[in-house]
Amino acid sequence: MKKSFLISIILCLCVIAAVFAGCNKTENQSSSSAAETTAANTADEAKSGGIDYMVLVNKTHKLPDDWEEKLETVNMTNSIGDDVEVEKKAYDAYLKLKADLEKEGVYVDLDSARRSVADQQRIMNEFTEQYGKEYALKTVATPGYSEHHTGLALDLYLIINGKDVTENEDMVKYPEIWSKIHAKLADYGFILRYLEGREYITGYGYEPWHIRYLDNSGTAKEITQNDITLEEYLGAYKGGKADIDYGTSKLYTEDDLKAAAIQVECKFASLDGCELQSLKYAGDDAVTDEKLNEINKQNPEAKYTKIAKFLMDFHTPEKTGDTALEPNRDYTGYQWWLARTDKDGWEIVSYGE
Ligand code: DAL
Ligand code: ZN
Repeated sequence: MKKSFLISIILCLCVIAAVFAGCNKTENQSSSSAAETTAANTADEAKSGGIDYMVLVNKTHKLPDDWEEKLETVNMTNSIGDDVEVEKKAYDAYLKLKADLEKEGVYVDLDSARRSVADQQRIMNEFTEQYGKEYALKTVATPGYSEHHTGLALDLYLIINGKDVTENEDMVKYPEIWSKIHAKLADYGFILRYLEGREYITGYGYEPWHIRYLDNSGTAKEITQNDITLEEYLGAYKGGKADIDYGTSKLYTEDDLKAAAIQVECKFASLDGCELQSLKYAGDDAVTDEKLNEINKQNPEAKYTKIAKFLMDFHTPEKTGDTALEPNRDYTGYQWWLARTDKDGWEIVSYGE
């Protein structure tokens, strides 16, 4: 009796100890996974809230070094089966924009959003091969300096009567559809990034398809209503509106001179902090056989057939990264020479005083 009582006590103690041990284990496990979940949530929040949605990435502002580690993206497959990676909040906003557009019979999809530096290099090579250097320079950013690296820049394409319209030269044929799209962008926190006639600020030709998420519809509306660029809104471009004058020419059409001027403007935007006052075609008198021969001698492999000269007035900032320019100075009559062959676009061949 005594022995069996003792055994019972020992057994009971073991069971109680085992139960306690088990409880403790379960409690420890659940509290540690709760702690892990909380930490993960906080990290997620910090990650998605960690990026600066107003970041400026352009020809003179590269992607911030710590961007990748803070960026949170999602992946989607577009109507042509391509995988597209987008910043998480930008994608949610895009889906709302897309649904709203569909109510008006406008159908879009995502051609490209977040790109790695290697993706950008591949695109630069493809565009140079497909469209030539001139078009590539005004359309594709140098790897490391593309807004697409942020995940906040989205390239749309159109779906018209169920057909995908993805090529740039085809998409520009639908200005009325783009107007409907652009009118809704700010409601969802987007702006149109590369405005027509602002190439000297943004550094790129007009791109109706490239939209940029700002995570704030109030700011997007302010930028859109004031018809300014992100550079101007952020105070990164302080000059006013420049005067661009194509003059009159018997040698070139206005479109031809406009294409030449855009090359100059896109290059000008890479001179950090410089403010453009005016750019004008220097006239047909500057176009001489002597000058054409001189330019061809300097570029023997190019075999140019046409040249054009532009004159520029601009102001340099207090500090200029370009050692060829004096700081805080008004430059007048600064010369830009461009040349082209019969089949290729304009190239800048020299610039200076
Ligand atoms: N198309 C824009 C400028 C880019 O390549 O980032
Ligand atoms: Zn783009």
